[in-house]
Amino acid sequence: MPLLDIKDLTVTFRTGDGEVNAVNGVSFNIEERETLAIVGESGSGKSQTAFAAMGLLAANGSAKGEVTYNGQNLLGLSQRQMNKVRSDQIGMIFQDPMTSLNPYMRISDQMAEVLMLHKGMGKKQAVDEAVKMLDAVRIPDARARITMYPHEFSGGMRQRIMIAMALLCRPRLLIADEPTTALDVTVQAQIMQLLGEIREEFGTAIVLITHDLGIVADFCDRTLVMYGGQIMETGPTEQLFERPTHPYTLGLLKAVPRLDREEEVLATISGEPPDMSRLPKGCPFSPRCGFAFDPCPTVRPDLVPAWEGSPICRACHAPVEEVQ
Ligand SMILES: Nc1ncnc2c1ncn2[C@@H]1O[C@H](COP(=O)(O)OP(=O)(O)OP(=O)(O)O)[C@@H](O)[C@H]1O
Ligand SMILES: [Mg+2]
Repeated sequence: MPLLDIKDLTVTFRTGDGEVNAVNGVSFNIEERETLAIVGESGSGKSQTAFAAMGLLAANGSAKGEVTYNGQNLLGLSQRQMNKVRSDQIGMIFQDPMTSLNPYMRISDQMAEVLMLHKGMGKKQAVDEAVKMLDAVRIPDARARITMYPHEFSGGMRQRIMIAMALLCRPRLLIADEPTTALDVTVQAQIMQLLGEIREEFGTAIVLITHDLGIVADFCDRTLVMYGGQIMETGPTEQLFERPTHPYTLGLLKAVPRLDREEEVLATISGEPPDMSRLPKGCPFSPRCGFAFDPCPTVRPDLVPAWEGSPICRACHAPVEEVQ
């Protein structure tokens, strides 16, 4: 049984201009200890997929479908039950650590509170456990520094503290939404290394939402490519990067600098990102796709194996052999 199983997830926002269909029938799962990347251009629905699963949608949003974690449909849970799932079963880390840290509380109090509430620990035991977790994310001199406030740490250190917070109750799944985008390259590499070590040490499954295909190639077992709130292609990262079968994935990969290629000019995908309140009935990428033909704007392609027995699934009408 997969750890997290998402079936036909749809997220709709009500706005002054009508409905925005941010996520449109997305299905995927993640296995115990697996690392899954979700990639795609800005606005493709990556974050809202995760937010919907975690019960964190904005007030004007609603989710339909099934999000099964540990045999339980999370979409049916009350706010209170969901708080518990978020604190002790699925950890989440965001681009901006200050979304998870309270600026007015000492780190020790914020961390201890979680453990006292969800694990029934006493204060001293909770602080000891928090120090252990800060050690695990390599905060130097954690025992002394745990009494400091968030602003007394550098950006990279705050990111580490947020990761420690997310891992406090030893969740089996960690969802990381652009965890390194705001950091400089060196710190970014350190944080990714840390996540790799944590994955080893705690056996945590990770969903990594990112723009950075370089990180994905190094870090993720499987990749899911989103566009216009739908999954375009998914499969084992290495195979997908080696031989993309969807025109959108092909375009994304051509836009990444590679040391082993000679081209001087990087390709970009021409055309505008889709208007999520006016998506075509068929494939959302069809208006920008060089391979589009008759059925594409009107008939939505199913996400099916690229060829019989292939671990790569694609949602595309164009024949696989033509897409390269
Ligand atoms: N509260 C809201 N009301 C209306 N539309 C919203 C709301 N929140 C998000 N959206 C829309 O949902 C769509 C998907 O947004 P989402 O945040 O999932 O994108 P993303 O893929 O995470 O992009 P990025 O890479 O920029 O983080 C976007 O078109 C966005 O404008
Ligand atoms: Mg996002």
